[in-house]
Amino acid sequence: MKRVVILFSKEGSNMENIIKKLHPHKIFVVAVITNNPKARGIAKAKALGINTVILNHKEFDSREKFDEKLVEIITGFDVDLTILAGFMRILTPIFTSRIKAINIHPSLLPAFKGANALKRSYESDQAKVGVSTHFVTDELDGGKIIMQKSFDKSGMSFEEFEKKIHECEHEIYPLSVLKALDLE
Ligand code: GAR
Repeated sequence: MKRVVILFSKEGSNMENIIKKLHPHKIFVVAVITNNPKARGIAKAKALGINTVILNHKEFDSREKFDEKLVEIITGFDVDLTILAGFMRILTPIFTSRIKAINIHPSLLPAFKGANALKRSYESDQAKVGVSTHFVTDELDGGKIIMQKSFDKSGMSFEEFEKKIHECEHEIYPLSVLKALDLE
């Protein structure tokens, strides 16, 4: 059984969705880790009985020191893959060079890399929008694409658009996890 750890910072809806769809029959979620002690996802992970680690980045002097501790914890879990699911931290090469990880991003990469992608994608004049999953490298949102799903946002309110983005994410992220692990 392939072992994974999931990292999140906020709602944790992608984390929860992956656990519900894949754990423990397809993959084993050893733990979830958040950098935000107030993340709403913490209660979701605990309700599902998953070991939950809180590593507050504010308790570290630098990005590098935080990443060193994160790498140490993940390495200790002995996982096959690290899944970033709304983990809102820029990762240094200390992490990216040592941890095999995948990420989900709310745009059709390479469009709208970086912060506030959801809002920038909605406000753009491109009708075709969507979500992407990709391998993590030292280039922000720049690694090899695993899957994408697109739709036409014409006429949608921001709320409708956001809901559709999450629906697409919840559809392709579990599939992407299996693909990244060569399980399908
Ligand atoms: C998701 O929309 C994800 O694509 C985005 O954060 C949201 C997390 O939602 N990630 C990024 O913007 C990464 N740059 P969730 O906490 O409900 O899964």
